[in-house]
Amino acid sequence: MLTDQAAVADSVAEAGTEAGAEAGAPFYRAVGDEAEIFRAAAGGGLPVLLKGPTGCGKTRFVEAMAHELGRDLITIAGHEDMTSADLVGRFLLKGGETVWVDGPLTRAVREGAICYLDEVVEARQDTVVVIHPLADHRRELALDRLGTTLSAAPGFQLVISYNPGYQSVLKNIKESTRQRFVAIELGFPPTEVEAQVVAHEAGIDAETAGALVAFGGVIRRLDGSPLREVASTRMLILAGCLVAHGLSLRGAVQAAVVQVLSDDPDVVRALGELADSVLPAPPTT
Ligand SMILES: Nc1ncnc2c1ncn2[C@@H]1O[C@H](COP(=O)(O)OP(=O)(O)OP(=O)(O)O)[C@@H](O)[C@H]1O
Ligand SMILES: [Mg+2]
Repeated sequence: MLTDQAAVADSVAEAGTEAGAEAGAPFYRAVGDEAEIFRAAAGGGLPVLLKGPTGCGKTRFVEAMAHELGRDLITIAGHEDMTSADLVGRFLLKGGETVWVDGPLTRAVREGAICYLDEVVEARQDTVVVIHPLADHRRELALDRLGTTLSAAPGFQLVISYNPGYQSVLKNIKESTRQRFVAIELGFPPTEVEAQVVAHEAGIDAETAGALVAFGGVIRRLDGSPLREVASTRMLILAGCLVAHGLSLRGAVQAAVVQVLSDDPDVVRALGELADSVLPAPPTT
């Protein structure tokens, strides 16, 4: 374990200067061929379905791709009360006059932006169907209330995401929606990449980041785990932030990982013991 951590620490130190190379570009470390797939899909104007667990980098990936492609990014968070008017737009009363106000999807269609519909499974299926004509060769959006149909400006691209771990029979994406998309699966990055990400985002040294990632890895590999979700990259970054602001490594892991993953006292205790066995011994004073 310690040797692994030392190797990771070396690689993180090497990568440190290269991180976030282009000024202003969102920091994103590729995990596999996701960027190639996204570029090809963007080239063909094809919509993309991103799937992966919470905190694995889906949003950051889309931000990085939008920047690389020079497109604006309009993000919409899916929720169960979302109506098609929330996406498309509605008439609003302004100073005694009724005026049409574009919804975020309509703005993206007009401006040729990337429209990122996050957690699409949360939205009702009758809402999601408004994206169908945009997600196939038609690339158009019907504005029924205005009695017009908009053709998507060049550059418009639809990206939807969901977490397959939360999927239930009730909440699934309709087959006729899914099949219009190119799917990209994102997972947690391999150890070395994840340690670079944690070190960069939390502003901590390579060794501490390596230790956090090692602990995250052990949790992810637990057999017969009672946990609903494993430790995400986001969680490890939060723990790293606590360390960067003066908390001990164990204290940070306890607050940002162990207590967040479970409320069951036995599970919390077991995870705490696991942390003790994986993390380096606290400095003796
Ligand atoms: N490959 C990566 N490169 C750079 N940063 C990453 C990467 N993966 C994760 N991160 C970091 O992890 C954080 C969480 O990632 P992000 O918010 O993109 O997750 P998500 O998959 O969109 O989660 P959710 O499903 O909960 O919205 C990001 O803010 C970023 O700091
Ligand atoms: Mg997200």
